[in-house]
Amino acid sequence: MCGIVGYIGNRQAQDVLINCLTRLEYRGYDSCGLAVSGSSLEVYKDAVRVNELAGAAPQLEGTAGIGHTRWATCGPPSQLNAHPHLDCRGRIAVVHNGIIYNFDRLKQELLAEGHNFAAEVDTEVLPHLIEKYYRGNLEEAVAAALHRVEGSYAIIVLKADEPELVVARKGSPLVIGLGDRENFIASDVVALLDYSDRVIYLEEGDIGVINKIDIKIKRNGADVLRKEHKILWTVAEAQKAGYEHFMLKEIHEQPKVIRDALGGYSQAAEPLVELAGAGGTDIDSLLILACGTSYYAGMVGKYIMEELLAIPVRVELASEFSYQGQVRAGTAAIVISQSGETADTLGATRRLKEKGCPVSAITNVMGSTISRLADRTVYTRAGPEISVASTKSFIAQLVVLYWLALSYSKVDIRRLADLVMAIRQLPSKVQQVLDKEDAIRRCGQFLSGYENVFFIGRGINHPVALEGALKLKEIAYIHAEGYAAGELKHGPFALLGSDTPVIALVVRDNTYEAVLNNIREIRARGSPVIAVVGQGDEATIGQLADWVITVPRVEALFSPIVNSVVLQLLAYYTARERGCPIDFPRNLAKSVTVE
Ligand code: F6R
Repeated sequence: MCGIVGYIGNRQAQDVLINCLTRLEYRGYDSCGLAVSGSSLEVYKDAVRVNELAGAAPQLEGTAGIGHTRWATCGPPSQLNAHPHLDCRGRIAVVHNGIIYNFDRLKQELLAEGHNFAAEVDTEVLPHLIEKYYRGNLEEAVAAALHRVEGSYAIIVLKADEPELVVARKGSPLVIGLGDRENFIASDVVALLDYSDRVIYLEEGDIGVINKIDIKIKRNGADVLRKEHKILWTVAEAQKAGYEHFMLKEIHEQPKVIRDALGGYSQAAEPLVELAGAGGTDIDSLLILACGTSYYAGMVGKYIMEELLAIPVRVELASEFSYQGQVRAGTAAIVISQSGETADTLGATRRLKEKGCPVSAITNVMGSTISRLADRTVYTRAGPEISVASTKSFIAQLVVLYWLALSYSKVDIRRLADLVMAIRQLPSKVQQVLDKEDAIRRCGQFLSGYENVFFIGRGINHPVALEGALKLKEIAYIHAEGYAAGELKHGPFALLGSDTPVIALVVRDNTYEAVLNNIREIRARGSPVIAVVGQGDEATIGQLADWVITVPRVEALFSPIVNSVVLQLLAYYTARERGCPIDFPRNLAKSVTVE
């Protein structure tokens, strides 16, 4: 959700900024821009992707600069609305990630005072406010301006003739990469991997002044020290490694991702985190909160936890919980977020904390805001996920949920041993699904000709159907709906016909016969059926379905893993056949840092 970067040092800033922005593009890609300070402050921006901007921009001379890649919230994508934004005299440039709620009021005030505005975006009030309060000290002017602002922000400010950048954060992430006589700033560490593996995370309310040697951070006017962290991700992990798209690379990484996610937990079912209710009480229920794909991981988690822990589990959309969610004593909460920066999930986490509910976070990003808000954090260890559509982080979230449930399991010791053995076989089972890529690709080619698709599953595979539909929508632009298989006849049957394929997840558990009946009912309405089935069932189900995709047989509890990988590949090859921009789907951004 908008990526911002900054550089100050001895190199030409433009080259560094372009490279960092390229790595941050998954946060937004409807427009982008740069400001570089040398003998003067120069700005170049446009409603284009970063590589086009890099090709078109003149050389902006200077060793300090800021850059932005945008995901529009306020004002449509356009050259004028692209960041950086400037004050009246073109001497103060600002890049911003976040939202300024009171910008209209501030803009009216500034207009009445004679400031000139060029764009339609909230951010533009910032350089003008800084200009208004500037009395020879940029940091003080930024602090005074931010004092007037309601909303969320991560900003970097550059002023002509001043050898420093001023940064600030409230509600949006910002990280400083440390170099040798140079410093880097970015919305997240992926942008910095080429330059530094030592970072400082800014905390809420921090304002920093950064030159090429020094970093000074203040909070509420007082100096504060922020710890240096070592980044474990590598540049290679953030590259395509010969794959056509990051999404395909990340799908193929999943056997390793499962191994890595399990790697730290080699002893049978050792607890990952301590789950406790308010005040350390024993837990009698769980509450899981998340958004999007992470929410579907949470829904799978409900089935896993209820089966293995035998306690009730509630799963809610973090974006809805903020309005009226209630929590009982004895409830432990788990929040799930790949990025650790999703505004709705952070909002729900804060609300849980206000209610005195202990919160455990499952996230992929070290140093993310959620890891600092939660009482305990479990990392999914999936490595950087660049594709906007989540794949490997979903699988890693499931693995963590399985292991968490196993470590608290109430099942007998033999069943537990069987489950631990089965989870350790998952990497090879997923590899077997990947080996079927060609068959799935052909099925994707078939699916690409349709505009409406249903996904059905029952029990633990109901959320997998929802996730499969989400993947198809977001990258192939096909209207897709996930349904609990039994619910189709309560309305959606009206939409079935030869132009509406249905993808059915068939698993050998207590849902098996019911799903077969559902397939018969669907076929009777003329819809083509694609069935995802366990090995051994292909012959029986082949008589009912038009397409059969076989997955290796796994313990039913783990079927979401193999089934999800099929649906990821299916979405990928459908989107590829339709010529969609797979890694950067329209209107989306990876990290949704606004509510
Ligand atoms: C879909 C997708 C999104 C995210 C959602 C939450 O492929 O990636 O639905 O899952 O925006 O993001 P995180 O997990 O970062 O909180």
